[in-house]
Amino acid sequence: MKYFIGAASMVIIILIGSFVFIYSGLYNMSATSHHNKLTLWMINTLRDKSMEYHANDPSINPPDLSDTSLIKIGYVHYRKMCVGCHGAPGRDQGEIAQKGFYPHPPLLVKTAKEFTPKQLFWIIKNGYKMTAMPAFGTTHSDDEIWALVSIVQKLPSISKEQFQLMEIQTKGMTVE
Ligand code: HEC
Repeated sequence: MKYFIGAASMVIIILIGSFVFIYSGLYNMSATSHHNKLTLWMINTLRDKSMEYHANDPSINPPDLSDTSLIKIGYVHYRKMCVGCHGAPGRDQGEIAQKGFYPHPPLLVKTAKEFTPKQLFWIIKNGYKMTAMPAFGTTHSDDEIWALVSIVQKLPSISKEQFQLMEIQTKGMTVE
């Protein structure tokens, strides 16, 4: 009984302490003050586990992602909506993406290979809470999102020249 009262008092003290800390305003929410290691681990683990769980949905079925006409549509969307934040082979991210956003948008040329096509689809369709990553599923069809997946998964393996060539190959193509 003594131990129970001790443990319950500890929990109550921690809860009250947490509320006092939250209401005090001491935690710095500015984008220039980065999270400490523990907070960062909690947020990133929550994000990654949530994404892995939801992307495993059996209703998400990839089409043939090597289809060149799909890749071309994806390229046009990617150039229009994603390069500014995520860069591309031979293309830098915009200044705000590099310096102003926290978390920083990753360079997909480096990180895209860490994800399965179903995971890329889920991320692009749903975005991430409390980051600058938008939910493109609110404005784009599943077919358009698969087109984006088809180009994103190729980014780590295509050269600057191949990416430039796609500009010529898709000349005149427009997307919403
Ligand atoms: C306004 C900036 C912004 C735009 C535009 C944007 N993103 Fe993002 N994106 C982010 C940020 C920030 C993250 C990282 C979120 C985090 O660290 O939790 C992210 C994460 C991602 C990830 C996960 C990559 C990783 O390494 O964790 C993918 C994939 C992605 N975005 C794809 C896209 C695609 C495709 C587009 C265009 C259709 C796009 N994003 C447009 C800001 C953006």
